[in-house]
Amino acid sequence: METLIPFLMASIIDNGVNTGNISHIYRTGGLMIVAASIGLLAGMAGGRFGAKASTGLAKNLRASMFEHIQTFSFSNIDKFSTAGLITRLTTDVTNIQNAYQMMLRMMMRAPASMICALIMAFTINRKLASIYLAAVIILGVILFFILTNATRYFRMAFPKYDAMNASVQENVSAIRVVKAYVREDYETDKFRQTSENIFRIFKKAENKLVMNAPLMQTTVYTCILLISWIGAKMIVSTTLTTGELMSLLAYCMNILMSLMMLSMVFVMLSMSTASMERISEVLNEESDLTNPEHPVMQVPDGSIRFQHVDFSYQPDSREPVLKDICLTIHSGETIGIIGGTGSAKTSLISLISRLYDATAGEVIVGGRNVREYDMEVLRNQVSVVLQSNVLFSGTIYENLRWGNKDATDEECRRACRLACADNFIQSFPDGYDTYIEQGGSNVSGGQKQRLCIARALLKKPKILILDDSTSAVDTATDANIRRAFREGIPDTTKLIISQRISSVQDADRIIVMENGQIDGFGTHEELLQTNAIYCEIYESQIKGGGDFDEKAGEL
Ligand SMILES: Nc1ncnc2c1ncn2[C@@H]1O[C@H](COP(=O)(O)OP(=O)(O)O)[C@@H](O)[C@H]1O
Ligand SMILES: [Mg+2]
Repeated sequence: METLIPFLMASIIDNGVNTGNISHIYRTGGLMIVAASIGLLAGMAGGRFGAKASTGLAKNLRASMFEHIQTFSFSNIDKFSTAGLITRLTTDVTNIQNAYQMMLRMMMRAPASMICALIMAFTINRKLASIYLAAVIILGVILFFILTNATRYFRMAFPKYDAMNASVQENVSAIRVVKAYVREDYETDKFRQTSENIFRIFKKAENKLVMNAPLMQTTVYTCILLISWIGAKMIVSTTLTTGELMSLLAYCMNILMSLMMLSMVFVMLSMSTASMERISEVLNEESDLTNPEHPVMQVPDGSIRFQHVDFSYQPDSREPVLKDICLTIHSGETIGIIGGTGSAKTSLISLISRLYDATAGEVIVGGRNVREYDMEVLRNQVSVVLQSNVLFSGTIYENLRWGNKDATDEECRRACRLACADNFIQSFPDGYDTYIEQGGSNVSGGQKQRLCIARALLKKPKILILDDSTSAVDTATDANIRRAFREGIPDTTKLIISQRISSVQDADRIIVMENGQIDGFGTHEELLQTNAIYCEIYESQIKGGGDFDEKAGEL
């Protein structure tokens, strides 16, 4: 329709105005209105459907990424940073959405309109139309160079977005720590720098693109000048009519506008290819933990065996984190695990619920290799309270039912009594309906830990693992929790990691970890006799000056 209108215009001038044929002017004018209306309606429909398609694409893309991220194992998550994943889910998807919308509307329209206008121009006058063709070719080449130049910078920009998001995320989620250490200025500086980096890169890219507009304008006006000049001469020598000149000028604008649109599409495309690659990376990431073909759906008991287990986080690292671990734990035993930070206590227990896979050797739970179980079954039966555990925004009941969505109120209360959380929950005005803010910021550290323990207990696991989960709880409550475990869940195998000797000394047996290896494994008395590291920790904590932990063992 766009290309038809200048053609009709030419007809009005040549056959209507010049010959004084009023009825021809009315008829053709009517046709022009019809053409314009069709063009308008089609344009509106195109815009509407384009918006629907592109927002839909963004929605679907986000949904599949989010769903796919849920299947990631811990080591997959280690590979992408949290900030990186957030940028990919937000900024990158938005980029693609914009590029796609632009593409839907322009990719067909601009080339089609350009080709139509060129053909029309050629049918009117070959000689003049070849001016356009030359302009299109020259402009195309120059645009190509500008764009490839700018694309380079756009590609550089996205990793910087990751850095900025990391800075924001880290700062905002740890805002209390930042304030406690009076690090606001440092953090502000850090943020300013990352956003300055993005600013600089975009400025460079836009500096290249800025040449686009003047170049276009120059070409458009040069073409118009040439056509007016040559066209005027031709009209004088009667080889061209006034109407034809008018429509040629209109086509000139048409062709160059299309070229402009196409160049914008290419800018968007080049910006979004970087985003596409980043999104594909997430979607193509294969979870390295997979269910076996015929998974075992039942964990028979809570026994644990490690047979010559080695483990490292990165496959290419030289020194494994866990070295040749052999141990046997019977179902229902209470095992304490003690050792310095970095001695691989957390790594050891991560293998039991298959958060990571052992690099060598076998981890056996309930008499079967953990790889034989259905992962969901295994993780429901092996309940881990992670060292850095989080509560989610929602009521206490909602948080507890994360552990088991069908738990009754009474079951929730029982778990909380076992975890010594019932008392403080009852003291809240709203009791179990108290709203927990994001990250559990409105409960104390020790309260949060006890809620996490209760949540893990609700799974009624065969194996319960507490990774330093009572570090913020006072020793008396800590001892109460352990006694409640002994009496309340005697058949559950309990693994308790702690820095405090008082938390582990009443366990059936204690593992002493040192440097990724088991340095000692036995009862409190045996270890006092035979294990130098255990003796040293004992001396420093119990005998050394008699701190508040002194009587903890007897509570
Ligand atoms: N996700 C991880 N990626 C790479 N290395 C890790 C990871 N988690 C822990 N490590 C490394 O493994 C070693 C043991 O860590 P960890 O098991 O957390 O010790 P502990 O719990 O005894 O303090 C440390 O040297 C630590 O740097
Ligand atoms: Mg740890």
